[in-house]
Amino acid sequence: MVCVITTYPECLAVMRDPVTFTVDDPRFSTGRIVGESMLSTDGARHRAHREPWARFLTSGATRSHAEKTVSRVCDDLVSDLRQSGSSSADLRTALTGPLAVAVMIELLGLAVEPATLLAWYRDIVTGVDAVSAGELPPAVATEAMRELERAVTAAALPIPQQSPAALASNAAVVLFGGIETVDGSIANLFWHLLGDSTTYRRCLADPQLVPSAIEESFRLEPAASRVDRYATVTTCVNGIEIAKGALVIVALRQANRDPTVFPDPDRFDIDRPERGRHLTFARGPHACIGPHLARLEAITAFTAVAEELGELTLVQSEGPEGKIFRKPAELVVSWGR
Ligand code: HEM
Repeated sequence: MVCVITTYPECLAVMRDPVTFTVDDPRFSTGRIVGESMLSTDGARHRAHREPWARFLTSGATRSHAEKTVSRVCDDLVSDLRQSGSSSADLRTALTGPLAVAVMIELLGLAVEPATLLAWYRDIVTGVDAVSAGELPPAVATEAMRELERAVTAAALPIPQQSPAALASNAAVVLFGGIETVDGSIANLFWHLLGDSTTYRRCLADPQLVPSAIEESFRLEPAASRVDRYATVTTCVNGIEIAKGALVIVALRQANRDPTVFPDPDRFDIDRPERGRHLTFARGPHACIGPHLARLEAITAFTAVAEELGELTLVQSEGPEGKIFRKPAELVVSWGR
């Protein structure tokens, strides 16, 4: 049985009740490739996986390292664009993708090239897809996890409580949680802003509006559109019976468009007062541990582009697509400076 929860209060309730709706199920295919991590456990085991990472990522030292890194990487990427001699580029390949990868490599202190890390990611996704289809984990995925474990062990992160295997599993979740979604959410932000040129211009003229634009873009197109849980008992949601063992899909994108919480929900409106109530970073014990970093990367990327390139025009993009992770395949823009 598969249940899809699309209403805001029920999505919130499911995510806040890990006893009835767990992530800890053998069908959770990511766990079968990356190993046991914070993403695939609940209760005390979950806390043991998560807390050291949450402390590390939110510590003053990491935050200040992140601010410097994000600022430097954004400036470098956008100056490269300006000095390229061209007046147009695909922001996915020139900015949002490389930014997301470079920041995670730097914060975790990994001695790897972005292309290598992305190749490991592709191999791990291949593995997740294979086990989801009922096949055995392919050798490429196992090898990619082994390489990642070596790189993470060499980085000597200040997370002493975890074994090398647990460190690598959680690092995989942190890395890939922070790459795919940040790339997508910044691309979605530019797509929303440029789809309606007045909003981009308003943000250029008044940078104080940018945080609201970011939240509204996060609401309308969450880069991860759903999270999955498994019912541990037969239960009821909104009067509908959910059988023990059912896969329960928490549809974050739909909840963020629940008209009882967000009036005229399909409209991109940076002035809507309730924009910050979105569920894009999930809630409950598995709530994202990187929203501060995602917001920092989004605002810094916008500022670098605004300062260096000024007015932008959207040249080519079909907009966000994808069943789970949503982002535009391309986001070609031009500038006139
Ligand atoms: C806009 C960007 C981001 C979005 C939309 C996003 C979204 C999410 C969502 C929906 C979850 C919940 C998963 C679940 O309940 O099953 C989650 C968890 C998580 N996110 Fe993010 N995330 C973003 C950025 C980041 C960043 C930058 C990092 C790393 C620094 C990160 C690391 C994680 C980790 C480690 C978890 C697992 C937490 C746990 O299971 O306890 N995310 N994220």
